[in-house]
Amino acid sequence: MTDNKKPKTGSGRRAGISSKQLIIGLDYSEPGQAGELVDLLAPLGVSFKVGLELFLAGGPPLVKKLAGESRVFLDLKFHDIPNTVAAAVRSAASHGVWMLNVHAAGGRKMLTAAREAVEGLPHKPLLLAVTVLTSMDDREMAETGCPGSAADRVVRLAGLSRDCGLDGVVCSPLEVEPVKKNIKGSFITVTPGIRGPGEDPGDQSRIASPAQVIRAGGDYLVVGRPVTRAPDPLEAVRNILADMAIDRYGC
Ligand code: C5P
Repeated sequence: MTDNKKPKTGSGRRAGISSKQLIIGLDYSEPGQAGELVDLLAPLGVSFKVGLELFLAGGPPLVKKLAGESRVFLDLKFHDIPNTVAAAVRSAASHGVWMLNVHAAGGRKMLTAAREAVEGLPHKPLLLAVTVLTSMDDREMAETGCPGSAADRVVRLAGLSRDCGLDGVVCSPLEVEPVKKNIKGSFITVTPGIRGPGEDPGDQSRIASPAQVIRAGGDYLVVGRPVTRAPDPLEAVRNILADMAIDRYGC
C-alpha cells in the first residue's frame, strides 16, 4: 500500500511529528490477537511491525492482508549470502510491505544485493540495516569478537549501509544522535528499546523514553511489550504519543 492510501485518520501532528512514526510490534503467536490490536490502534494512525513470531504463525497471507490495510514493517532481519538475501528481499517486497530489514553485519556485497533487489520496484519499500541489537551491551559485544562501544559499531555499520544505498538503520535510542551527527542527508533511524521511566526493560539493554528519542532527532520508534502487555493497550499508545508530543490524532 502506498502512503497516500493509508488511513486518513491519525494524521495528527505537532512540529512535524506524526503518529505514523510510532511502530507497534505485533509480537503474538496468534494472528487473531494481532488483528484485534490492529483494529484497536489503526484509527490512531500508528504503523505496525510483523516480526518472526507472527510471521511464522500467519505467513505471507497475513503480511499481505495487514499491508493492504496499514503500513507494515516486516522485521525478519535477513542475514545470509548476497544471492539468498536479494531473493528474500524481492519476495518480502512483493507482499506490499512499507519497510523491511537485513543485518548490516552481512557486509557490503550483501547490503548492495539487497538494495539492488528493491531498486526500480513500483512500490519500493524502505530498506533498513540492523546494526547492533538493542538487547546487547558492550560486554556481550566483546564476547562476540566486537570490542569497543555499541555506539562506535553502530556508526560504522550505519556508514557502510549508507555507502551501499540503504535508507537507514535500526539502532538503539542511544545511538540516534551519533548516527545523525555522522551520517548526513536523509538517512533514517528506527529505534526499538523504547521504555518510559521505571518501565520494565525486559531483555533490552540500550533503552530510552519516546520523548528522548524524538529530542535526539529519531525518525521511527518501535514499541512491543509496553503496548502488547499493557492492561489497556489503547491508553498505553496514547501515553506514548503524548510523550512524543503528538497531542492530536484521529479517533
Ligand atoms: O517488546 P519490545 O518493545 O522490547 O519489542 C521490541 C521489538 O523490536 C521486538 O519485536 C524486537 O524483535 C524488535 N527489535 C529489537 N531490536 C532490534 C531490532 C528489532 O528489539 N535491533
